[in-house]
Formats: sequence, C-alpha cells, structure tokens
Amino acid sequence: MSNANVKPATGKLGVMVVGLGAVSSTFITGVLMARKGLAKPVGSMTQYDKIRVGQGEDKKYLQYKDIVPLADLNDIVFAAWDVYPANAFESAINAEVLKEKDILPVKDELEKIVPLKAAFDHNYAARLDGDNVKTVKDRWDMTEQIREDIRNFKKEAGVDRVVVLWAASTEIYVPVDEKIHYRLADLEAAMKADDKEHIAPSMCYAYAALAEGAPFIMGAPNTTVDIPAMWELAEKTGMPIAGKDFKTGQTLVKSGFAPIIGTRCLGLSGWFSTNILGNRDGLVLDEPANFRTKEVSKLSTLESILVPEEQPDLYTDYYHKVRINYYPPRNDNKEGWDNIDIFGWMGYPMQIKINFLCRDSILAAPLCLDLVLLSDLAARAGRHGTQRFLSFFLKSPMHDYTKGEVPVNHLFQQYVMLKNAIREMGGYPADETID
Ligand SMILES: NC(=O)c1ccc[n+]([C@@H]2O[C@H](COP(=O)([O-])OP(=O)(O)OC[C@H]3O[C@@H](n4cnc5c(N)ncnc54)[C@H](O)[C@@H]3O)[C@@H](O)[C@H]2O)c1
Repeated sequence: MSNANVKPATGKLGVMVVGLGAVSSTFITGVLMARKGLAKPVGSMTQYDKIRVGQGEDKKYLQYKDIVPLADLNDIVFAAWDVYPANAFESAINAEVLKEKDILPVKDELEKIVPLKAAFDHNYAARLDGDNVKTVKDRWDMTEQIREDIRNFKKEAGVDRVVVLWAASTEIYVPVDEKIHYRLADLEAAMKADDKEHIAPSMCYAYAALAEGAPFIMGAPNTTVDIPAMWELAEKTGMPIAGKDFKTGQTLVKSGFAPIIGTRCLGLSGWFSTNILGNRDGLVLDEPANFRTKEVSKLSTLESILVPEEQPDLYTDYYHKVRINYYPPRNDNKEGWDNIDIFGWMGYPMQIKINFLCRDSILAAPLCLDLVLLSDLAARAGRHGTQRFLSFFLKSPMHDYTKGEVPVNHLFQQYVMLKNAIREMGGYPADETID
C-alpha cells in the first residue's frame, strides 16, 4: 500500500455546517457520542465498510482508514451557521430526533456550538423567520462575510483544514441560466451587481468555502455547485465539490430496488412515490417553489437506471411521480410509500408496494460524516471539481450536463465507483468495472 499521493490527515479538521437543524444536530451529537464510546456510528461507510484490495492470493478486505489516511473522529471540531440562534444542544432537543439520554452526555460540547449569523434571504425560504441573520450590502458582501467566518474559525479553533457542509433548508428552485451560471466571471459580476434572482445565498457559502480552500458539499437539492461557474472556481482553487441532496430514504430504496427490475428485464409502467413528514424540512418543502427543487432532484433517479432508449419494450413512457406531504404529527419520522407497477411475461401486470417507516435524520447523519471525511480526503489527494465517487451518497449526483454526461444513479454501480476511488487513493489499482 502506498499513500504517497495523499497528504496525511494531520492536525484538526474543522467541519462548518450550514444549518443547525435536525440533520446537523443529529450528525454532530452522534459524532460527539461516538468518540466518547457512548454510541455507534451505524450506517457510516467510512466507519464500517470493508473493501477488497488486491486480487487472488493477495486479496484483503480492509476498512477505509487502513487503505487511505482519513481524519479521526477525535480530530473534528464543529461550527455552524443558522437563521435561528439556538445552540447545537437546544437544536438537538428541539428536533426531537434523539432521546435526551443520547444528548445529555455531550451537552457541554453541544452548547459551545453557537450558530454564526446566517447568510440568508427570506425570499429563498419564506417559511423561515429567524433573525440570526447577517446584514449585508449585496451578494458579494455576503460572500466576503462568510469568508471571514471561515478564516476566523480556522484561527480560533486552531484547525488545519475546513470542510463546509450544507445541511440547511432547501432553497427555492434556481434554474440554471447560461448567462449567469456558466462562467465564473459572470457569476462574480452577478454577485457584485447583487442579482438576488440568480444568486442564492447557498452560492455565497459555496463560493466562500472554495475561495478559502475548503471543499463544499451540497446536502440539499439546491443547484448551488451544480453549475459550470462553480466547477471553474473549484478547478481554480483545487477544491473538491460534491452534491446534491443526501440519498437517504425513498431514493435510496429506489436506486437499490430499480436494479432488481432492470436486472431481471421486467417492464415498468409506473412508479408512484409519496411521503409524509412533519419536521421543519417538511414545512419548508410545503412551499411549492421549494418543493420544485426537491422534485427535480428526486425524479432524476429512475431515468438513468431503467433507460427507455436501451429497452424500449420495457421502459418506454413509464409514469414517475414523487410527492411530499407536510404532516406535523410525524415530525422527523417520515413514512414513504412506493407503488410500483411492473409487467412480466407477455405484458402481464404486477404490483410491488414498499412502505418505509424511516427516520430522516438518522439516515442522513452517517452520510454527513462520510461526505465530510471523504471530501477532506479528496482534497488531500489533490482531486478537485465534482467528486463522482461520492454519488453513492447523493440523490441527484452532479455530472457535466454541458457535455451530455449521464449521471450514475444505480446504487451498486455507485458503490463500485466509491470502492475504486478509495483503492486508487490508497495506491491500489481501480480493479472493478461499473457495468
Ligand atoms: N434528512 C434527510 O433525510 C434529508 C435527505 C436529503 C436532503 N435533506 C436536506 O437536508 C437539509 C436539512 O434538513 P433538516 O431536516 O435538518 O432541516 P431543518 O429545517 O431541521 O434544518 C435546516 C436548518 O437550516 C437553517 N437555514 C436555512 N437557510 C439557511 C441559511 N441560508 N444559512 C444558515 N442556515 C439556514 C434553518 O434555520 C434550519 O434550522 C434540507 O435541505 C433537507 O431537504 C435531508
């Protein structure tokens, strides 16, 4: 094994989370509890998965940390921004995801995570009314202030590296506009001209992170880093970017289940997905403009797994619908129903029903940890731009649509990409093909 091309994970890793809501407070609490030995980071690939390296007689199954230099949980220092002033302890209590017994042992540490003022624009999430918000002159000033937050945190917390993770609310849908979002110079000009319509606050966070030498991860379906101008910036600053939208409940099931239909050459005539959830995320998504962002992200999954052009008899014109319904009594415990209309021999119809009673933030927290640790690894390995190997964790993986690139949504193909990247960064050949 040779890690010659990956810098070691020396010193502390600063994790700056945008949004200190249900997902981030569950993530942070879990990491703090795990490093005290009081909880297990179940669901985290970086903490549990074992990958084969070498072949034949030389093959071994190793954990990621034994293949590549990963930051240790003990070396993570957290910071956050939020529109509301609640600290991480209050936020974890308010979210009602975790029981008090799983929060209280790390109360002191959580209380110290007090959110920095948010870079926020009410028009991007009309259902939020918190006032822990920066006063800014324009979008460029907004970006400058976030950059200053990152620099101050680095200095004050004594961290060597920073990763910025967006786990804040879903913004309204910002369609990609070639005139603004394709070239970095145009994006910067729009920020300076305070073009509020085309520059979402999330873009200011992403720009600030990349400019300060921090990888940026988009955990919501926002198009923030899914634009050529940000790819240009990531290239220029040599930083990795990843996105978009954590692949947690229904889409995880979809990207794992659709291959069953495709692999057995069964036909699909329709897939109807509906959800109820009652947390603040659900409240924000109850707003049609915000839901539109999520819908676009969720719908993209099936089309690249069950491809009509490849199997016209089986996949032409299937009906795919995704709905999210805000239903407060369930809070973070989302319930998802999938009705899948398939057909078999001679076209005879059949149905599959999947009812997933999940916990949103419990599924998202390990993805936060993995995306943070692997983005930090990618930066140390000198990998910049879109990190396709992280598609495994994401609902709507970024891809270069300007060149007609098709994203990989198939869960098991994504897993091969993940394994190959870890092997390569560990000095082993990438020895699996994704077909
Ligand atoms: N939990 C899941 O399974 C899952 C899956 C995929 C994506 N997501 C996305 O993750 C995000 C977080 O989900 P959640 O359940 O924690 O939501 P949440 O509403 O509990 O927390 C989001 C927090 O972000 C804050 N916020 C909003 N805009 C901000 C800004 N500009 N700057 C700083 N803070 C801001 C809000 O005040 C809120 O506290 C959502 O966008 C959600 O769609 C969640």
